[in-house]
Amino acid sequence: MSTAIDIQKTSASKIFEVDFNNLPFGQITSDHMFICDYKNGKWQQPQILPYQNFSLDPSARIFHYGQSVFEGMKAYRDDKDKIWLFRPLENQRRINISSERLAMPAFPENYFMDGLLALIKLEKDWIPQTEGSSLYIRPYIFATGIGFHASPADEYKFVIACSPSGSYFSGKVKVLIEEKYSRSANGGVGFAKAGGNYAGQFYPTQLAKAKGYQQVIWTDDNTHEYIEEAGAMNVFIRIGDTLITSPTSDRILDGITRKSVIAIAKDENIPVEVRKITVSELVEASKKGTLKEMFGAGTAAVISPIHGFGYREKDYDLPELENSYASRFKKRITDIQYNRAEDKFGWRYLVE
Ligand code: PLP
Ligand code: COI
Repeated sequence: MSTAIDIQKTSASKIFEVDFNNLPFGQITSDHMFICDYKNGKWQQPQILPYQNFSLDPSARIFHYGQSVFEGMKAYRDDKDKIWLFRPLENQRRINISSERLAMPAFPENYFMDGLLALIKLEKDWIPQTEGSSLYIRPYIFATGIGFHASPADEYKFVIACSPSGSYFSGKVKVLIEEKYSRSANGGVGFAKAGGNYAGQFYPTQLAKAKGYQQVIWTDDNTHEYIEEAGAMNVFIRIGDTLITSPTSDRILDGITRKSVIAIAKDENIPVEVRKITVSELVEASKKGTLKEMFGAGTAAVISPIHGFGYREKDYDLPELENSYASRFKKRITDIQYNRAEDKFGWRYLVE
């Protein structure tokens, strides 16, 4: 049985103000949002409301102790106007994994899926048709409960907001391998999609941007010898014909795109190794000419080729390859997402 959702529609759509041929990433929001409040120990009546501001008590714990987790998903429109999601249950599961780590209540699967589907159906016209664009979907939960005591809040808000979006990166992506700052640590919250993980990256990323890099590649906090992941994506390295990505751990986000790339690689008989990889192995491979590719994988970033990396004040360029693995994976994944090809994995999810 589907969840009863109280739906209030907007009387003034903003859709006619939007240039769908020229979409930034995540800047424009759609007409409605899904909301569900947690109080008295349970999730209350879910609602879909016109997109609007929240009113929060200044002592709400989100402001002080950062109890906030989120997800990133996309809805895709195919050429017959059918709407698709990609592995949405993975996001549903992961937000609860993140919440648990931040001592926040789990959001029920049926509320998540029914709320998501009802919202996407209502916002159908907001899903762009233009190549490379989609409706970016942002589910999140944050602490609204009041009080300056440093302990978990007793009230929360679950929200899903949507943003018609173009590509995450503009231009070529160069990354800086970071040795001073850390994104996460053993026993920490790195595996969770916690808002604070991103806040902690902004300063080192600003420093990297000032040097001409778009993202930081994080290394392990203990030795800074091993490559972990990038700011908003997991990282893949191709040496010779072998694809390598580091294993997930409590420091690394278990990316859905990462899992999908590994599954496709296995399906296409591309040798793939999930193992620790050192920065020195990467640098040596670059010097020897066996480093063929690096790319990032994530919902927002899709598959983003990395054109070069900086390490200890030196820049290393990657070759421009015809028929790269990155372009193969991008095609295979987006063909599934936009319903252009068979989906033997069962990842595509029809919104009807
Ligand atoms: N790593 C980090 C830190 C991220 O923020 C993201 C984005 O969600 C990813 C990896 C990729 O995860 P996914 O493919 O599930 O979007
Ligand atoms: C996503 O890929 O959906 C993310 O959540 C990354 C985000 C920081 C833009």
